[in-house]
Amino acid sequence: MRHFTSVHDVEDLNQALDEAFEVKKNPYGFKHLGENKTMVLLFFNSSLRTRLSTQKAAMNLGMNTIVLDVNQGAWKLETERGVIMDGDKPEHLLEAVPVIGSYCDVIGVRSFARFESKQDDYEEKILSQFIQYAGVPVVSMEAATRHPLQSFADHITIEEHKKVDRPKVVLTWAPHPRALPQAVPNSFAEWMQVADYDLVITHPKGYELAPEFVGNAKVEYDQEKAFEGADFIYAKNWASYSEYGQILSTDRSWTVDEEKMALTNNAYFMHCLPVRRNMIVTDGVIESDRSLVIAEAANRVVSAQAVLKRILEDL
Ligand code: CP
Repeated sequence: MRHFTSVHDVEDLNQALDEAFEVKKNPYGFKHLGENKTMVLLFFNSSLRTRLSTQKAAMNLGMNTIVLDVNQGAWKLETERGVIMDGDKPEHLLEAVPVIGSYCDVIGVRSFARFESKQDDYEEKILSQFIQYAGVPVVSMEAATRHPLQSFADHITIEEHKKVDRPKVVLTWAPHPRALPQAVPNSFAEWMQVADYDLVITHPKGYELAPEFVGNAKVEYDQEKAFEGADFIYAKNWASYSEYGQILSTDRSWTVDEEKMALTNNAYFMHCLPVRRNMIVTDGVIESDRSLVIAEAANRVVSAQAVLKRILEDL
């Protein structure tokens, strides 16, 4: 593997899962791979899980790690080509990226959708410049349209808990006071379909994801109907794709609560975190013994380590 930006960078998903379970069982067994290798983790946006789990994964593999918050302590970066740089951004991405690449063997980048231009976000304008100019492998730590390390961790978690080969997995929109990117639901929907689970997506009208991410998943606008017989409920808020970046609803009747969970096949509850309690999910559901949110977060180390192991093996 050269870069990791989506499930499509994984050649064989079953093999990747096997490798993930191998590193989970034996986290320090591959330390030699990262000896004298350095990973820079670059954050344009805040993070708790991705920052800690990716750094931990790299350290488990024997790598040195450098974490940089671009907007705190580094020069502000201009990302547009051709602009007259007379504003508050003294450095251009076109110099910064190869410079960073010269200091390390792998770069992890977090760069969320900016909601300024749908086209720029969906062309992954920032991530693609890293891939083009870094000169080293690039790992997406959540980009504008996908969060693949999260989706891989979600897949690992479902595999660990599923009771049938092809579980019914429901991705449900839930209310939130701020406009959030579509990266997590896009990535989850795409990954679940490659995993060949029975995926249903439910959301209010106007919250349809981009068609390339919906794929062949069933879209059900009645949330209660969608929950019937579900084995896993994956909750997430996202802003509208069609009315790009807009909040069209904060309808709390979409909050995942105990009554809705009772419609399912004793489903597990999942969310990538951070989560707004009693907006996305009630205290009762997230604290129940069917909640997998901590297991998912813990598996972020496993997904990152499996990906980094494969990148190091192919350097
Ligand atoms: N789920 C996730 O990516 O969490 P952070 O934003 O805290 O990294």
